[in-house]
Parts: sequence; C-alpha cells; structure tokens
Amino acid sequence: MSDETARQIEFPLDRAFTFVESGPVLLISTRQHGKSNLMTVSCHASMGFEPSLGICLGPWNFSYAALTATGECVVAIPPASLMEQVVDIGNCSGESMDKFAHFGLTEQAARQVQAPLVAQCLYNLECRVVNRTLVDEYNFFVLRGVAAWRHAAPADTRSFHAVGDGAFIIDGEIINLRQRMSKWQDCI
Ligand SMILES: Cc1cc2nc3c(=O)[nH]c(=O)nc-3n(C[C@H](O)[C@H](O)[C@H](O)COP(=O)(O)O)c2cc1C
Repeated sequence: MSDETARQIEFPLDRAFTFVESGPVLLISTRQHGKSNLMTVSCHASMGFEPSLGICLGPWNFSYAALTATGECVVAIPPASLMEQVVDIGNCSGESMDKFAHFGLTEQAARQVQAPLVAQCLYNLECRVVNRTLVDEYNFFVLRGVAAWRHAAPADTRSFHAVGDGAFIIDGEIINLRQRMSKWQDCI
C-alpha cells in the first residue's frame, strides 16, 4: 500500500553532509614535543571491524601537524555532559594553550601510543595512522585502533552528535531489539 503523503523535495547538496554526519562527536588527542592537545571532530567514518575509522582533519588545525608527524592519536567519545566544553575545544587552538588544563580534563597514559587518553570520556581508542592516500584530496586519515578503554563508572552514558550547523543531538531512548537479530546472534 503506497503512502500518498510521502514525497521528496530537493535539499541543497552543499548541506547534505548534515544528514550523514551524525556519528558521535569525537575528541582527538595528540602529543608532540612533550605537549598534549585536543581537538573536536565530527566528520568521521567507520571503516571496518578491526576497528578502523577515517577522520577528516583539516591542515589549518594545530592537531594536523602532530597527527602527521607522529602518526598516532587517541579517539575519545565524550559524554553529553561535556558538550559545551567539547564545542569550545573545537573553537580554540592548542598552539597557544593547554586544552587539557584549561577545560579541566585529565590525561591518562595510553598503553600503545604517546597521545593521552581523556579520563572523563566514555571510551578511548588508541590509534595509529595506517593509510594517508586520501589526505591530499580529502584531508582523510585512516586510523586503526590498537587498544581500547571505557570509563569505569560513567555518570552520563549518552554520547552526542553534530548536525553540522551548530546544533547537536543527544542520544535518546535505548531500544532493545536483540531478539529480532536472528541472523546476527554471534555478533551481539
Ligand atoms: C562540533 C565541531 C566539530 C568539528 N569537526 C571537525 C572535523 O571533523 N574536522 C576538522 O578538521 N575540524 C573540526 N572542527 C574544528 C576543530 O576542532 C578546530 O579547528 C579546533 O580549534 C582545532 O584545534 P587545534 O588547532 O588545537 O588542533 C570541529 C569543531 C567543532 C566545534
């Protein structure tokens, strides 16, 4: 039965990233010359099960030089309770400040990389850059996770998502449909 009220109207192509961008907002930690830094990243893509992911990181960011030089970073998933700090972290540069100290975030030593974990985040994934072939054209770094961590007792378990226009979506109700996942019982 067709729904006569359903109809598509054209959407501006240059804004189309806003409806595919909504993975969790990330903090990327890097460390170079003995100095740790943080930046906010919302443009990223899951790339496999190893786990691998791609992040878009523009050369205008201080973090770009550190990631390019060291080939290492930590990908952290901040809780919704840190949303305002995370937006502010994405609106200032580590070139002229210590963002961990300024935003009251705690560095925790990682196991495999020099960049620190962010203790307040829900998850931290230590990563190495494994592919740079798309950096020149797309600013796209492919990362592979080499160690993963989760917060021992998070007060807020919600991550949040960028729409792309300064608005954000906080995770909502969790719906358990595991019984319907008949084909994928080994994965859940
Ligand atoms: C919500 C949000 C999302 C952002 N996403 C990205 C992104 O995906 N890629 C990027 O290069 N910069 C992104 N930025 C901008 C950087 O976080 C920003 O330029 C930051 O100041 C870089 O810090 P740094 O110079 O210390 O490296 C984002 C900023 C905000 C607020």
